[in-house]
Amino acid sequence: MEHSTLLNKPLSFIFIISTPASHGTDDDNYTTCHEKTYDCREQIKEIGCPFWGKDRPQFCGVQGFELTSHANENTTIVIEKQAFRVLHIN
Ligand SMILES: *[C@@H]1O[C@H](CO)[C@@H](O)[C@H](O)[C@H]1NC(C)=O
Ligand SMILES: *[C@@H]1O[C@H](CO)[C@@H](O)[C@H](O)[C@H]1NC(C)=O
Repeated sequence: MEHSTLLNKPLSFIFIISTPASHGTDDDNYTTCHEKTYDCREQIKEIGCPFWGKDRPQFCGVQGFELTSHANENTTIVIEKQAFRVLHIN
């Protein structure tokens, strides 16, 4: 039986940043993604790529990195159908 090793390791994120391919300019979306950060209380503020959620539209992030704000108080992320409380993002 195969087990996912994801949660056995320290939680760290590797960001692969790629610039959009040259299929037309999307200035509006760029501006939106630049301005709209995910904010939820003091601990989790001005979060950008690859995360999205709340005021930050999905096209600004990567699927699987959706952050959910609960009453502007707590943040959760769902990993393999399990919700985790997000305490801090560096
Ligand atoms: C730009 O925004 C529109 C409307 O919000 C969206 O439908 C479209 O997918 C976005 N484009 C990209 C490249 O994400
Ligand atoms: C946020 O988390 C605290 C501590 O777990 C809990 O008491 C509170 O009800 C949560 N608030 C919301 C809106 O989920």
